[in-house]
Formats: sequence, C-alpha cells, structure tokens
Amino acid sequence: MTQPLVLGIETSCDETAVGIVRGRTLLANVISSSVEEHARFGGVVPEVASRAHLEAMQPAINRALKESGINLKDLDAIAVTAGPGLVGALLVGVSAANGLALALNKPLYGVNHLASHVAVDLLTHEKDIRPTIALLVSGGHSSILQVNDITCDIQSLGQTVDDAAGEAFDKIARLLKLGFPGGPLIDKDARDGNEKAINFPRGLTQSKDMAEHEFDFSFSGLKTAVSRYLQATPDYVRADVSASFQEAVVDVLLQKSIKACKETGIDSLVIAGGVAANSRLRTVATERCASAGIELRTPPPALCTDNGAMVAALGSLAITSGRPASALGIETASSISPSIPIWV
Ligand code: KG4
Ligand code: ZN
Repeated sequence: MTQPLVLGIETSCDETAVGIVRGRTLLANVISSSVEEHARFGGVVPEVASRAHLEAMQPAINRALKESGINLKDLDAIAVTAGPGLVGALLVGVSAANGLALALNKPLYGVNHLASHVAVDLLTHEKDIRPTIALLVSGGHSSILQVNDITCDIQSLGQTVDDAAGEAFDKIARLLKLGFPGGPLIDKDARDGNEKAINFPRGLTQSKDMAEHEFDFSFSGLKTAVSRYLQATPDYVRADVSASFQEAVVDVLLQKSIKACKETGIDSLVIAGGVAANSRLRTVATERCASAGIELRTPPPALCTDNGAMVAALGSLAITSGRPASALGIETASSISPSIPIWV
C-alpha cells in the first residue's frame, strides 16, 4: 500500500479535530475548538473539553468525509491520538476511533501526540524526515528530540523542568490582560514593541546550569521576572513587555536547539507544536539556521496547533514503514514518552 488513506482523530486538549490524508497529501482538516468556552477561566477546563468533544466528534468526522469526498469504507486505517493529554478528552477520540476501526474492520493506530506534531511536516515537504533534531513546543510540552525514525526511534535530549513554552505565553498574556490562549495574542502585541526594551532572563543557559540541563528549559524564572517588572513599572509599555518576553523565550529555544544540532552532528531542525506558529520564532529560526548551515523545516502555522491531519500523517507513515497496528480496544495514555511514537 503506497498511498494509504487514513482518517486521524485528535482530542487531547480542546480541539476536536479530524483529518484525512492519502499518503502525504492532505485531503481534509476539520477543527472544532472549544477554546471560547475556556477563555473566561483563563485555561482549559478538562470537564468542559470532554463534553465539547462528545458533541463535536460525529459532526467533525462527517464534515471531514464530505470535504474530502471520501467514503468511510474506502479508508485503509484509522489513527487516533492515544496520549499524552487530558484523559477524559482523549477518551472521546479513542472511543470513536475504536468504534470506527471495529465497525469498518480496519487497522487502528494509536499515535503519540508529540510525534504527530513533528510528522505533520511531511504533508508540506517533498523530502522525507531524515534524522533530525525536533524542537517540540506546545501548551503542554517543550522538548528537544533526536528523531532518528519518526515511527520507531525518537530520543528525548531535554525538556522543560517547569512550565511548557506555550504555558509561559499563556501565563504572561494573563498578567498583561491580553486574554487566552496567550501565544497568538502576545505574538500580535509584540509586533508593535521593542524586543530589546527589557533584558529578561534566559533560563538554564548559564554555565553552572548547562552541565546538568544542557538541553532542558525553564520558564518559571522568566515568568517571575516579568511579574516583578510589571509590579515595579506601573507605566510599562505592554508591547515592549510582550516583545521582550517573547524574545527571551525564542532566544533560549533556538540556542539549545541549534546546540543540539551541532553536538549530534545532525544538520536538520524541525520546529513543531503550537508555539511553532509564533512569527518571531519562525523569523529568528530562519536567520540562525541559515548562518549555522542547518536545514530548517516548520509546518505552516495552521498545522502547528493541534489538528487531525498530523495524526493521520503519522498513521500513514506507520503503515508505509510497516509498523504493526495497535490492538483494538487500546486505552488512553495520559503521559506517554515521546520515545513511543505508536502505541501498540
Ligand atoms: O500544540 P498546541 O495546539 O496544543 C498542545 O498540544 O498544547 O499548542 C497550544 C499552545 C498554547 O499555549 C498557545 O498559546 C500556543 O500554543 N501558541 C502560540 C502561538 N499560537 C499558539 N504561542 C506563541 N505564538 C503563537 N503564535
Ligand atoms: Zn499539541
């Protein structure tokens, strides 16, 4: 089967998403988000997300089939995010996928959300993902991965020791009263600001920390520094704070990712996950990778945040690479290591 037709379901957080791919061609990408229901709480409320998934699941599947002109019986496989994520939210997608696979008598692939964020890159690049360093930055995770084979061989080189990068954006946006989710709002606000206005700390980059945490991140000190700055500076310029905070995050993410490329001798970097949609991260990554001789790959912003196409893409790759399907009746895995791309 050279061009498997795969339907992917994603419900790990607040997006009920269904994507359909044929091989590496995207045919449908339907996303129904409950983000507005969470906004007034300033963060995702798991119970609210689960209920929203239940309501949105069936219509999202139907819309994806309609958009792609595909008949359910023509699918070669179903892929679903098995974890990591919110258990109650994952359960809705996993149950739907189990039901579909059973009814259609098709194989089921339970995929790792983190690996699928990286795999989505395949849908927009002609070349395969060769061994690469992946900077995975989302609302729940911030990791530097060494991806030798996206379907079976991923090693974690480092991760955040406290907040995820997206979480840091969301928390600072709350302090700045910008709203939720904070990433896109800070990104926009920062365009009118000066990124050199305030020199915020770059966590875990001092030589004393590098010995133990060479590829780890920490954003809690940065959050405290921003909070102190706001208290001490009542007439602060919001756009300057947004731009300077964003610069501190972008700088440390790229310093460590490029170092990982250099130390492993891998001259390819994929930046994936919701924060990879950040315009400043994309600009600075392009500049720094060009001067370091590293090939940079970033999915288009719309495929960086959670979607079903990325799940279908990893499912399709698993099939073409001959990986075994998952057992029918798979359960959710609220925390799976990125070293297990396919849950069997
Ligand atoms: O990957 P994702 O959609 O969901 C998780 O798996 O967590 O990532 C969501 C995170 C949120 O924290 C959001 O604020 C952040 O990605 N984000 C951004 C941008 N767009 C989304 N952060 C910075 N700049 C952006 N443009
Ligand atoms: Zn995600």
